Amino acid sequence: MTKQCDLVINNVRIASMQKNGEPYGHLTQSSVAIKNGKVLTIFDASEESYASTQKYDGDNKWLLPGFIDCHTHLVFGGNRANEFEQRLQGKTYTEIAQQGGGIQGTVNATRESSEQTLLEGAIKRAARLVEEGVTSIEVKSGYGLDMQTELKMLKVANQIAEHLPVTIIPTYLGAHTVPKEYRDTPDDYVQFVCEQVIPAVAKQKLAQCVDVFCESIGFSPTQCRKIFAAAKAHNLDVKAHVEQLSDLKGAKLAAEFRALSVDHIEYLDPKDIPALKQSGTVAVLLPGAFYYLSEKQKPPVAELRANKVPIAIATDLNPGSSPIASILTIMNMASVLFGLTPEEALYGVTMNAAKALNLTNKGQVKAGMDADLCLWDIEQPAELVYGINQHRPSAKWFAGREC
Ligand code: NIG
Ligand code: FE
Repeated sequence: MTKQCDLVINNVRIASMQKNGEPYGHLTQSSVAIKNGKVLTIFDASEESYASTQKYDGDNKWLLPGFIDCHTHLVFGGNRANEFEQRLQGKTYTEIAQQGGGIQGTVNATRESSEQTLLEGAIKRAARLVEEGVTSIEVKSGYGLDMQTELKMLKVANQIAEHLPVTIIPTYLGAHTVPKEYRDTPDDYVQFVCEQVIPAVAKQKLAQCVDVFCESIGFSPTQCRKIFAAAKAHNLDVKAHVEQLSDLKGAKLAAEFRALSVDHIEYLDPKDIPALKQSGTVAVLLPGAFYYLSEKQKPPVAELRANKVPIAIATDLNPGSSPIASILTIMNMASVLFGLTPEEALYGVTMNAAKALNLTNKGQVKAGMDADLCLWDIEQPAELVYGINQHRPSAKWFAGREC
């Protein structure tokens, strides 16, 4: 009997990114039926038939899930090319931050920018990701730090999805740096974040997660603990920038709160990895920041693997430590700089990135999941990681619609 659906994509090789024991989750079937924005079934055209208004011939190309960039700061005002120059003249990221530049510099520019200007810049950067096959992007606030600008940033983040075929997952990052108004009273700022901003963000449903920067130039573990507790009290998930420049035991703390992810983690102590495994926390690697800051300390990839902690990778797109609007470049960097296999890099922007954002319907080509799909004209999936700026999707579907 012929079954009904909205679209059938035929004649494709499917890298489903499911964990089915095959490289890249390769499936033997070569057709995908889509209905109501979701994958209805994956089937073999010779054995079953689906009647649909639309048919697409995939020409034996590879079909993959749309990519998920699970860590970005792509809403911001201004840029920091001047600091890039200063770093090349010998100043460090930490020194620049201590002298009122760095994140605080972008805070000043973001506070001065109108909502429209912020939105235009954000759309431009998000479009770069989308054209490379990204269909979901996490976007953090954290360049406002006062109530008004943080809410403005989150509103702008939410608006991106009205302009591009993409799902946006906004995150409140109030604890990015201590704003200048609170320089001498950082605990008062933490109190403001916990008692005023988190409740407002939760009430207005502007974000799904709360993030922190646990570092000497950010917030102490004691301060982060308070923020995590406030987030959980408002039913928001937690994520954390930890162990980027030093080991403050932020990952262990985040695991205590069952964080969705710990991000950066170059200085993560391997002894703290079992706690991440236990809490189901994803390790998010950000090779762009490692590259831009000329870091030497690499994340403990072998130990993460040995402990079976899921590894995701992301652009960390931001004006300071990672002005890279390219997920494909980041996939290559994760392999060349951190030693991820091409297969790990691809799981890192699909299935594991979905887990880092609690996106239970995305990141795999699978019946019941969102039909966010990309078709690639390649001979093998590793090609997407191996080259730089060599590929763009031949076709793309967002929630089952070609875009
Ligand atoms: O993930 N580490 C803290 N936050 C950002 C950098 C933000 C900035 O430098 O503007 C990061 O690298
Ligand atoms: Fe970041």
